[in-house]
Amino acid sequence: MNKILTLAITAAAVLTNTFAADVRSAIESPDAKKILKKDYLGPAKKYTMPAGCISNDPDAIARGKFIFHNLNGGAAEGHFPKGLAKKLPNGEVKQYGNCVACHNIEDAQGGGNIGPDLTNYKAYFMDTNTRDNAWVYQKIADPRIDNENTHMTINLTTGLFTETEICEMTSYIVSEKK
Ligand code: HEC
Repeated sequence: MNKILTLAITAAAVLTNTFAADVRSAIESPDAKKILKKDYLGPAKKYTMPAGCISNDPDAIARGKFIFHNLNGGAAEGHFPKGLAKKLPNGEVKQYGNCVACHNIEDAQGGGNIGPDLTNYKAYFMDTNTRDNAWVYQKIADPRIDNENTHMTINLTTGLFTETEICEMTSYIVSEKK
């Protein structure tokens, strides 16, 4: 009984200290401007699509598709395409794009409708010359370029994804789906 009581008191003390520390740090830096400044991305960045970006390589397209459809390596089910894994070499869970949270597309499970439906993208947008590869690449890299107030995630300017990963997502979106 005594042991349990001691444990409870220790736990309470730990909790009190934790909360006390949190409150102190908030009082010591009440000005959030520094944090906001650090997070500020500046104006939309224009990118040049790297040479050889768009690929017909089935592995590259499979990676683009996987990044588009999954939130992260931990939650991802099924077969990982060649070159992608659950975790990064440093052991952290690899984060993916979860683009289906906002977009519907072929094979999407519960695709969202915050962004436009990207089903039949090739036929509707590419074959009609409404869009080209560089435009799609730029839109994923920094979607603010044609819509300052976009709700879409910014992927290259923030460093969320690399140029190669954005090329692979672009290759997937503009590809012919079966
Ligand atoms: C939070 C919602 C959201 C997420 C997440 C999101 N998008 Fe979008 N996306 C949008 C919206 C909204 C638009 C419409 C244009 C705009 O507002 O900028 C858009 C537009 C696009 C377009 C242009 C379609 C066209 O031809 O007009 C592409 C391509 C695209 N998104 C790809 C992606 C990819 C790839 C990802 C994942 C890395 C992604 N989006 C994640 C909301 C989102």
